[in-house]
Amino acid sequence: MANKLSRARPLVIANWKSYIESLEAAKAFVQALKRRKELGAEAWVAPPSVFLAELAKTLKGTGIKLGGQALSAHEGAQTGGVSAMMLKTSGASFVLAGHSECRAQGESDKDVHAQLAAAANAALAPVLCVGERERTADGAHFTVIEEQLLSALRGAQSLAAKLVVAYEPVWAIGKNASSAMKPQELEETVIFIRKVLADALGREPARKVRVLYGGSVEGENAAELLSEGGVDGFLVGHASAKLDSFVEILNACKK
Ligand code: 13P
Repeated sequence: MANKLSRARPLVIANWKSYIESLEAAKAFVQALKRRKELGAEAWVAPPSVFLAELAKTLKGTGIKLGGQALSAHEGAQTGGVSAMMLKTSGASFVLAGHSECRAQGESDKDVHAQLAAAANAALAPVLCVGERERTADGAHFTVIEEQLLSALRGAQSLAAKLVVAYEPVWAIGKNASSAMKPQELEETVIFIRKVLADALGREPARKVRVLYGGSVEGENAAELLSEGGVDGFLVGHASAKLDSFVEILNACKK
């Protein structure tokens, strides 16, 4: 089925994780990215937070948005904590919340809910990550996804205008295109996510929420996942840490 709900321009977010370790390399990446013309999608970049302020200078006025990879919603003193306001004042305009790598380190649904509230307070667009650890024939993944969405969005209807949801099945992360989710499986999951969002946020507000896919997206599978999978774009890990493979994905999104 064609991607009926897709927006005019897809969104592709680079989640650099900890792949790019030097500020020099990070700056060289974004300088080269901003010189690339006529990209096939809107590009957002989530670098390590220590690089944000410097990269924000380079990207000023380009339309390429920067964001945090995580935030701490802890109130009070916390050694090493990076708050929503720190991200905002360093140049971020969005933040990932609930990434499976953070959940694996002990972040709970309650923490993710608090992070969305903190993001909203700092006027950061939240990119809420959800996804099951494994897929079994009994459809248990639907329950996992629904619980993650509902607990994060409880009482948070006001977030809908800026919300982005990234569906990232844990079993598909960090591999290669041939191990990524197949477009048909993706499409049925995305339909389910949109239904849960409509129930949680109301039909009209939910229609504006962009739903992305993440998990071994590469230049090779991006076009098919976009056209057949019903998503509005991608949240990309390993393939976003090299300029050429990131641009390949952006350009695969050209209509
Ligand atoms: P990969 O693209 O490396 O599978 O990572 C996906 C991801 O976790 C993005 O947040």
